[in-house]
Amino acid sequence: MIIVLFGKPGAGKGTQAPLLAAALGVPTLATGDELRAAIRAGSPLGLEAKSYMDRGDLVPDSVILGIIKQALSEQRNAGGVLLDGVVRTVPQAEGLDKVVVELGKKVEAVLAFDIDDEEIVRRLASRTVCESCQTPYTGREPGTACDKCGGTLIRRKDDEPEAIRNRLEVYDRQTAPVLDWYRSHGTKVAVIDAVGPVQDVTARALGVLAS
Ligand code: AP5
Repeated sequence: MIIVLFGKPGAGKGTQAPLLAAALGVPTLATGDELRAAIRAGSPLGLEAKSYMDRGDLVPDSVILGIIKQALSEQRNAGGVLLDGVVRTVPQAEGLDKVVVELGKKVEAVLAFDIDDEEIVRRLASRTVCESCQTPYTGREPGTACDKCGGTLIRRKDDEPEAIRNRLEVYDRQTAPVLDWYRSHGTKVAVIDAVGPVQDVTARALGVLAS
């Protein structure tokens, strides 16, 4: 089972991914988390990605496709994986398709979390994330401890107003067309209302997958 979680920045992909993964019994892969881990480790991948990410631009497709190929060939992902924000351009969708076909698999569904820009700006303005495990929080101060792992909560650099504006523009220009690519290739695309209590959004997503 390979499921793509899709949506604007702040739509709630990172919040929903672990909840859906636990319910479905599959691991998650989030390219944003992988890239931030590489930046913290000071690796060549992190050095290449940092300036793109700080501005809110997309990291080059070649870098993302390298991460996807590596991850999907790992044993822990052999039974399926939930892809959180992994596909953001049409070339990435084409590249992922090639990899899954080579592995004899397919993308089962794309869950597109739907939310308007005003709500996104409100959510990201009050978000902090754990520096270690990347869990997102609302209304918690930077410097306090993560409930899950005890790590320190920080503000993300790309949650500054200018970077948020750029990320939303990048989404409209480069990422939104991916949905039509999947529709035209016969993949199930389900649009999920991403507003409301977190558990309600999870239930909507699981309901769509079961139907
Ligand atoms: P990434 O880390 O993936 O960022 P993003 O897609 O911009 O998404 P976010 O993490 O901002 O939001 P989210 O949808 O996960 O929402 P969250 O659950 O946190 O990527 C960062 C950067 O890495 C990109 O800009 C790019 O540079 C690079 N990158 C990554 N993948 C790439 C790729 N494939 N190609 C190229 N570049 C790539 O929720 C947001 C807030 O809302 C939180 O505070 C949360 O607590 C709250 N919240 C969640 N759900 C609800 C709810 N139902 N009600 C109220 N509040 C809620």
